[in-house]
Amino acid sequence: MSPSQEAPLARPEPASAAGVSAYAQVLPSSAEIGPDGHLAIGGCDLAELADAHGTPLVVYDEGHLRRTAHDFADAMSRHAPGGEVVYASKAYWGLAMLRVVHEAGLAVDVASGGELHAALAAGVPADRIYMHGNNKDEREIEELLAARVGAVVLDGFDELDRLERAAAARGVTQRVLVRVTPGVSGDTHEYISTGQVDSKFGFPLASGDAAAAIERVRESPSLELGGLHVHIGSQLLDLSGFPSAAAVLARLAREVGAEDLGLINMGGGLGVAYTRDQRPPSIDEFVATVVEAVRAAWSAEGIPMPRLAIEPGRAVVARAGVTVYRVGGVKDIPGVRRYVSVDGGMSDLLRPMLYGATYEALRVTRPADEPVEPVRLVGKHCESGDVLISEAHLPEVAAGDLICLPATGAYGVAMASNYNGVPRPAVVFVDEGHARVVARRETYADLLSREL
Ligand code: LLP
Repeated sequence: MSPSQEAPLARPEPASAAGVSAYAQVLPSSAEIGPDGHLAIGGCDLAELADAHGTPLVVYDEGHLRRTAHDFADAMSRHAPGGEVVYASKAYWGLAMLRVVHEAGLAVDVASGGELHAALAAGVPADRIYMHGNNKDEREIEELLAARVGAVVLDGFDELDRLERAAAARGVTQRVLVRVTPGVSGDTHEYISTGQVDSKFGFPLASGDAAAAIERVRESPSLELGGLHVHIGSQLLDLSGFPSAAAVLARLAREVGAEDLGLINMGGGLGVAYTRDQRPPSIDEFVATVVEAVRAAWSAEGIPMPRLAIEPGRAVVARAGVTVYRVGGVKDIPGVRRYVSVDGGMSDLLRPMLYGATYEALRVTRPADEPVEPVRLVGKHCESGDVLISEAHLPEVAAGDLICLPATGAYGVAMASNYNGVPRPAVVFVDEGHARVVARRETYADLLSREL
């Protein structure tokens, strides 16, 4: 039976009163322990959801998502009225997710033809879409022109030429932002740091390429300059890179002439807490810091304050999502460690393996029971490195138990693969005691559907 057909659960105790308050930072705000001791999200018992829909199961608290998207929009309207919040859909581009963020008033950043296709299919108006990508090919350029997207974020001279030719051939003028590599990077993992000079992204400022790109766009009858873009990095827990990036951009704007640089998109990057000890800046602090950085930098250069955009992905969706796994086996190696194997792993959550990212784990039943010796939580893939959590602090677990990993809502299912022929998980949205499947679990038939 689908949980959405059941009566809503009896109102459980709030998490703070029920023993998972220590995890409040990483769980959705609706997390609580239900009457039978099970962890529940959005009023839905995770054990019931796992029984109904199988595991691994990605569960998003829709109410939490709506509030977070709204908090971004609200912070922007208070700190920089008229500014724009653009959801970076690479964090998770499911149609239900895109509808939630669009309804909350956010624009959408897409980084490929596929993400563009998803945003259009979700009903996001084309003029609310920003097209990114460091190597937009001819097909993607035709697609974005046909859709009439609001802006293209230009990343290099070759694609500038391709876009110009294609727009001219269609007789249209395409609005663009020039992506600048400022030579300032965020303090984060090197794989997700993008603002440094040595980067595949954007037009380097130091070499003069950024200024040259701006000139090329100004001269082009088929392109219209809308402004500048910068993204210094991702999972930033420290926002000190923004004033430096803004200062560098403002100097460039003064040097090249700021009159047609109406929009400055400062990118995304706000970090989230994956573990209980992490304390990311709040949404309000992030928006206030970015707005103040731009205001101060533009005023120092004596040029009028532009319209502002930010482009968060992770911080919109990470904490709203959890993944539920079922334990398949426990292996003790005396004097070494205990391995606990679950029915997913690197195919649905690659971040631990790719970036050494750390997560918390909770047992779904009575999660607040006393933890035993740390265990190594591993996936089911044929790789020794398929480790979800190297030292997980869990109460006693046995085969059949359910484990919940919080804060898996960003770059989890969005980076999922079929490695080892493992079908990708189902995605469920929960809200006020009701659950709806928004993406069904992949089947074996899906796995073979492209084989000829
Ligand atoms: N804008 C641009 C141009 C970006 O490249 C990115 C992320 C964002 C916005 C959104 O950044 P966010 O607010 O989510 O930090 N797979 C990695 C993250 C890669 C981020 C790439 N670009 C991870 O799992 O940590």
